[in-house]
Amino acid sequence: METSGSDGRQPLAHPLLKGQKALVTGANSGIGKATAIGLGRAGADVVVNYVAGRDAAEDVVREIESFGVRAYAHEADVSQEKQVSDMVDRMVQKFGTIDVMVANAGLQRDAPLTDMTMAQWQKVLDVNLTGQFLCAREAAKEFMRRGVVPEVSRSVGKIICMSSVHQIIPWAGHVNYASSKGGVQMLMATLAQELAPHRIRVNAVAPGAIRTPINRSAWDTPEAEADLLRLVPYDRVGDPDDIANVVAALASDLFDYVVGTTLYVDGGMTLFPGFATGG
Ligand code: BGC
Repeated sequence: METSGSDGRQPLAHPLLKGQKALVTGANSGIGKATAIGLGRAGADVVVNYVAGRDAAEDVVREIESFGVRAYAHEADVSQEKQVSDMVDRMVQKFGTIDVMVANAGLQRDAPLTDMTMAQWQKVLDVNLTGQFLCAREAAKEFMRRGVVPEVSRSVGKIICMSSVHQIIPWAGHVNYASSKGGVQMLMATLAQELAPHRIRVNAVAPGAIRTPINRSAWDTPEAEADLLRLVPYDRVGDPDDIANVVAALASDLFDYVVGTTLYVDGGMTLFPGFATGG
């Protein structure tokens, strides 16, 4: 039976991710929320991870279920080893396995260098970098245990690291965040090299300025938005769905030969827009 989502959009005629099981971390708001919903719309069963905000996570679950696929919410702090392994174990019990790990959870704790506390530095590295390491490791163990299921996908599994344009754009006042994303770039590339022979595809998506709670102050007044758009040649702030669509495509077999790549989804933010009129 065809069902349409609560937003009225129909699922794809031949769902890209039919039969796949996906886990999205930090999936109760922002990019993670849109991605979890997008993967459900593309036919995947989805685990909606969150660390705080159970009601918001349950809303995401209901929206995903409206596409006729399965979903449930799971509370876990991605920086805690045991919580991540328990989360993947439970997914294997409930859904049978995992095909797609979207290591999305991330946060900012901004401060100029001389004011930045050890706690601010450590928290961002723990969640944004160590969290991705733990999620990738636990997913890879299950991918290797299971092996290829040709009816489901040509690859054994997909790991998608949510990075940022700040994996290459330095960002004053955000040294913890930029360092964590620079780390994600090398985590992704090294894991891609290590895991490709196992038929596991590791890639990253690097969003630019996307309209979410993490950067509200950068777009929530007309003045702030105009300022921000000076950094975006495509002249619009991104929507969470811009990222969700790319993650769904990247997780699908349409992208089966894409290994170890970062897809920048940034309206051209990484094109050095200041040089359009200078230099
Ligand atoms: C940050 C946002 C910022 C964007 C572009 C993202 O990674 O989380 O706060 O607006 O990069 O600078």
